[in-house]
Amino acid sequence: MTDTDTLIATAKAMVVPGKGILAVDESTETCTKRFAKFGIESTKTSRRDYREMMFRAPGIGEFVSGAILYDETIRQDAADGSRIVDVLNDVGVLPGIKVDTGVKPLAGAPGETITEGLDGLRDRLAEYREIGARFTKWRAVLKVSDETPSRNCIEKNAQALGRYAALAQEAGLVPIVEPEVLMDGDHDIQRCRVVTSQVLQATFEQLSAHRALLAGIVLKPNMVIAGSDCLRQATSAEIAELTLATLREFVPDEVPGIAFLSGGQTGEEACTNLDTMARRGDLPWELTYSFGRALQYPSLEIWGGSNGADAQAALLHRARMSSLARSGRYSAIEERAAV
Ligand code: G3H
Repeated sequence: MTDTDTLIATAKAMVVPGKGILAVDESTETCTKRFAKFGIESTKTSRRDYREMMFRAPGIGEFVSGAILYDETIRQDAADGSRIVDVLNDVGVLPGIKVDTGVKPLAGAPGETITEGLDGLRDRLAEYREIGARFTKWRAVLKVSDETPSRNCIEKNAQALGRYAALAQEAGLVPIVEPEVLMDGDHDIQRCRVVTSQVLQATFEQLSAHRALLAGIVLKPNMVIAGSDCLRQATSAEIAELTLATLREFVPDEVPGIAFLSGGQTGEEACTNLDTMARRGDLPWELTYSFGRALQYPSLEIWGGSNGADAQAALLHRARMSSLARSGRYSAIEERAAV
């Protein structure tokens, strides 16, 4: 297999029908905040135990094609001494790694951010590949207000995504390209559509400028949705219609798959919207999930630091619901089925 064939095969495997991606790449700071909500102490070991609990959920590989890890986790051993990447490989889940180093204020753009992590990235990618990563993730963050995102913020973040994608592919790793338009704010769905359009357009221009192989990426966008404080929340039919129209306009057909982030939607909301899109069918790319909170939340609450079996059942339930949703077979009856 050539390097190009490998990238294409990996990208296809990440978005294979029936499965999606489990995002467990929260930084230590974010993980600590989420643990604190449920009174769980955050230590290297508790973070490892929580993530290992998810990876060992019986049958997880039926619904999950890949897991995005954080730097701490990809280097860790499981409780029995085996490597975390091997725990994933053993259940048929591809190990991936978040390679950006987080957001920093963008100079000259009040309230806006730029995602950092390009310095030294070539060397870090080589090391992650050696450890066993098969794909990577980089998240750009765009905040919506009357004045933002600025052209400058959109362009700088798109340039970083382009450089990152080219470097990841050079290292033989599939880049998940994540330009996230945040749900925070009171903007309506039409404003989200305009901003998402600008962001996707700039992102694909930069992917092309950096000669990224589109058949060897996975796009991880937001759904087109009203801000969480907007008084008029859109229906699932409106979300599906505007999201698909926007994606059709800006995402080239060569891209093998689009894996949505959940962005603050509940698991049920995210599944309902994904299912509505899947039922419309006839799309040039696979449409799937790369949820963090929408897969993990009920499980984290139940786990509480020790309740492994029930937490695994909760995770598997959300994973199965997400899988049904991407296949256009999600329903309230399935949702209510005993966890
Ligand atoms: O970058 C964001 C995560 O990978 C996805 O998280 O589904 O909770 O938005 P989320």
